[in-house]
Amino acid sequence: MAELVVSKAQIVRQEGTRMAEFPIERVRRMFPALNRGSGTVFFDNAAGAQIPQPVFAAMNDHLLCRNVQRGGPYRESQEVDAVIARARQTVAALLNAADPDEISFGMNATSFIRLVSLALGQSLSDRREIIVSELDHEANVATWLALTREGAVIRWWKVREDGSLNLSDLEQLLCSRTRLVACTAASNALGTIVDVAGVAQRAHAVGAEVFIDCVHYPPHGSVDVQDWGCDYLVCSGYKIFGPHMGFLWGRRKALEALPTFREDFIPDVPPSKIEVGTFVYENVAGMSAAVEYLAGLGKEPGQNDRPDSLRARLVHSMELIRAYEATLSQALLNGLHAIKGVKVYGVNDPSAVNQRVPTICFNWGDVPPATLAAKLGEKNIAVRDGHMYSPRLMKRLGISPACGAVRASLVHYNTHEEIRLFLNALQGIAGN
Ligand SMILES: Cc1ncc(COP(=O)(O)O)c(C=O)c1O
Repeated sequence: MAELVVSKAQIVRQEGTRMAEFPIERVRRMFPALNRGSGTVFFDNAAGAQIPQPVFAAMNDHLLCRNVQRGGPYRESQEVDAVIARARQTVAALLNAADPDEISFGMNATSFIRLVSLALGQSLSDRREIIVSELDHEANVATWLALTREGAVIRWWKVREDGSLNLSDLEQLLCSRTRLVACTAASNALGTIVDVAGVAQRAHAVGAEVFIDCVHYPPHGSVDVQDWGCDYLVCSGYKIFGPHMGFLWGRRKALEALPTFREDFIPDVPPSKIEVGTFVYENVAGMSAAVEYLAGLGKEPGQNDRPDSLRARLVHSMELIRAYEATLSQALLNGLHAIKGVKVYGVNDPSAVNQRVPTICFNWGDVPPATLAAKLGEKNIAVRDGHMYSPRLMKRLGISPACGAVRASLVHYNTHEEIRLFLNALQGIAGN
């Protein structure tokens, strides 16, 4: 058997204090997928995370007890109205939105990006320039590129060698013709975090708006749309320990100004002017439960409910998650650096983990990423290979988009022991 890359004792010594603070055992007990005896190491969370039991319970309860249309004059329908209203409040707390009506529910992030881009495309006027980034998921690129048909002019915010987006590079692109900056809060491929507040400050200084693809960030840190100062922000529930659904936040005034398509009887105000037809209510119930799950993380069961607001509890939980995940990023980077021939893309300095989330893309010599991912899969370690829906980024980093790289994407329910299993499995593959 190959020698252990990182021993458990080593990791505990390195990360001791922080690990003790994070309630990892309690967390893992709440996720049925982690306890069914499959032994799977879930390192493909950027493609969708597992759900805790209360999320399933909320969806189940909704379907079994009140699978009816909202807006009716009877108990179950009124309960549906209450579930949706509550969900707008919990999701508003997750994002620190000023008003729950700034939250719209729907299918997924991509369809919301499309909805906003179609609306903006009708109102380009003299401001025709849209800045898109090389770091982004293609959903937040192609959708804006399509507006060239409406006369939009695209400007590219390029990534630096280390996979970061630099604000001084953005400044060179901004001008009085800029209509919008569309960029990510964190890269789903490299894990790089973007300074959203810095982007918004600079964009607003020239009168432009900011659209944030926030799909990858919320499982890893606290989102604060008021502090960030962006104008639109989109998320996917299935990355945040919820079901497959998406939600859009928009600053109220920005949403009010968006021209959208509606049936005559739908009021021209948010959220109704944004939401298309009937959305999946059980998924909204599940998403609300996922937010409550996150808010409860910082509290031991049986501990008296603190008077803190939902928002305050969320911020506390996300701080715990961020600190714990920093230890995961460090251990993963140290372990990968110790394997000869492994190249980690993006911010790969273990002392700079504050610039990233534990989403790590790498290649190993000439081994095709698909082969590596399949061999890890045989060992019950779930990772992803390919271009991660960011083929332009791959090209920029000198990676063939056809082959791409291997991505290990961790969240707070992953452990140092799983990292050890992953690194040992990699070593084992090299030994064969
Ligand atoms: C960063 C990022 N943006 C957008 C998307 C698309 O999200 P959705 O599947 O909700 O449309 C994804 C999905 O993986 C993503 O990771």
